[in-house]
Amino acid sequence: MLVIEKKNKLRNKLIQAKTIGKTIGFVPTMGALHSGHLSLIERAKKECDVVVCSIYVNPTQFNNAADFENYPQTLKADVNLLDLAKCDFVFTPTFDELYESKSDLLDIDLGNLERNMEGEYRPGHFLGMVTVVKKFFDIVEPDKGFFGEKDFQQLAIINYMVSFFQLPIEIIGCATVRENDGLALSSRNALLNKEQREAAPLIYKALCSLKELLLTHTVQECKDMVTEQINKNKELGVEYIEIVNSKTLQPITEYNTQKVCRACIAVYAGNIRLIDNIAL
Ligand code: PAJ
Repeated sequence: MLVIEKKNKLRNKLIQAKTIGKTIGFVPTMGALHSGHLSLIERAKKECDVVVCSIYVNPTQFNNAADFENYPQTLKADVNLLDLAKCDFVFTPTFDELYESKSDLLDIDLGNLERNMEGEYRPGHFLGMVTVVKKFFDIVEPDKGFFGEKDFQQLAIINYMVSFFQLPIEIIGCATVRENDGLALSSRNALLNKEQREAAPLIYKALCSLKELLLTHTVQECKDMVTEQINKNKELGVEYIEIVNSKTLQPITEYNTQKVCRACIAVYAGNIRLIDNIAL
């Protein structure tokens, strides 16, 4: 496995691989790797000849300076895990290697896809995220990009960006990996204290209870009940809960088992923000 900081060096290595007919799988990450990230590497290994993983904490997608400062950085351990997972290349660029300046953002209107949920509560987040992913795609030019359903709105926006620029890249959405108690794996889980960690599985549990509740209550009543269920725990505070059409990400007001829907939630445990979602 090679760890590469310079985009030109990475490009040259990948051109060599492509020339001899190898397919490239790409897994972008911000590091602090856990089994969720590794499941994407594993899937990429299965589907592609060469796997590239990027580790880069992208400043343009953080709308909160403290969140950026506190983002866990564990490069040495990450590189070890990727080596064990038989990843081929780890791309660890600097800001200057990727960006002209802080205002070097993609010219794309994400429209309704970023009006609610993460887009509403983290203004500018998705433009920064999609900017860095487009930069990575231009450098790596992968055949397939692997993304987690854990960040469901992110996945939808990546799909939109790929079709907007007509990129010849197949986006593969991968199922959320969870702890045994249901908590979705996240790099931010490492920041939870003991009490917060004990409370956090309630998020998934409450989301799952929606499936039954929706059969007998209105969407609004269900959202209120789940919010109450979570907020009753003094460690947790719901920021939003939304039930959306899985394709358009627009909120639904009436539940219909025929339509494919997703319940998405953001919850604070102290100042740590956790997100999760399930298919309904
Ligand atoms: P990061 O949060 O590090 O996540 C990297 C990838 O891992 C994303 O596709 C995310 O959805 C996936 N992932 C995270 N937790 C997961 C879990 N429990 N199960 C399955 N997949 C999981 O998402 C980002 O970084 C950044 O926004 C990025 C796309 C790298 C752009 O900066």
